[in-house]
Amino acid sequence: MKDLAGKTAFVTGGASGIGLGIATSLAQAGVKVMLCDIEQAALNEALAGLRATNADVSAVRADVSLKHELQKAAEATIDAYGEVHIVVNNAGVGGGGGYGAWTDASWEWTIDVNLMGVIWGVEIFGPLIERHGQGGHIVNTASIAGLLSASGNAYNVTKYGVVALSEGLRVELAPRGIGVSVLCPGFIKTRITDSARNRPDRFPDERGASQQGAEAAWLENVRARVDAGIDPRYVGELVREGIEGDWPYIFTDAEFEPLIEMRFAAIKQGFAKIRDRQPPRG
Ligand code: NAI
Repeated sequence: MKDLAGKTAFVTGGASGIGLGIATSLAQAGVKVMLCDIEQAALNEALAGLRATNADVSAVRADVSLKHELQKAAEATIDAYGEVHIVVNNAGVGGGGGYGAWTDASWEWTIDVNLMGVIWGVEIFGPLIERHGQGGHIVNTASIAGLLSASGNAYNVTKYGVVALSEGLRVELAPRGIGVSVLCPGFIKTRITDSARNRPDRFPDERGASQQGAEAAWLENVRARVDAGIDPRYVGELVREGIEGDWPYIFTDAEFEPLIEMRFAAIKQGFAKIRDRQPPRG
């Protein structure tokens, strides 16, 4: 999408962190932005901050893990701006530690926010983009953990899902005039390690002491990297560039590129083991 000025964007998790960075860069490019978030106080603050720069922004509170709330947020966007061109399915939560720290509720919370929220965002907003015929763009926030998994945790599983969804949709939606990018950030300085602040009561934290200990150790490690991470406003600018240039993958830095190359090499080794064999067929 080349000419962003005057278009409308819907950004989930838009009240803070990466979502706010994206909303800010889009607003600065003249895009009208509907911020969507579960946290009302953060939404109010973000709205006031952006309006102080004369940006055309609105806000709607919704929990993306509840489809009917996302549907209402879409209706609020159309009521406010008439049409929508850019959808950024960015809201996400960290947590759900690896083996030994699993609970059903943690898996469900992480899957419903990080994966179902993105799926429903596409399902609800895709037809709204298609109906005005001007084309549009969808950005789904995954993570570098969507391409690299060193722990069997729910976070990585959902992020791999977002990468798969986005790669497939890119092929399916191109003929319909909708570009699709997947954002795979490295460590970004946000409040992701405090995600539990937004854990709805219907996903109770039922972990025992040993499970909590295992996850706390994992989280502390991540927290140090996140606190020293990249400024989310920089990520916002990259995403704007990615939308304008229709980038399939939006990375924030090359820190993990060698590890991803090692993963590809391991996959190729898997093929090398069987390449010369003749499997019986039919
Ligand atoms: P953050 O915690 O600062 O921002 C996340 C936003 O999503 C918050 O405003 C929060 O209120 C909102 N949110 C949480 N649950 C929600 C729900 N159920 N419905 C609606 N809104 C909800 O964290 P950050 O880092 O900005 O996270 C944004 C995305 O970036 C997430 O998908 C995360 O997984 C991803 N990411 C973050 C990385 C980092 O290092 N910070 C690295 C890779 C990916």
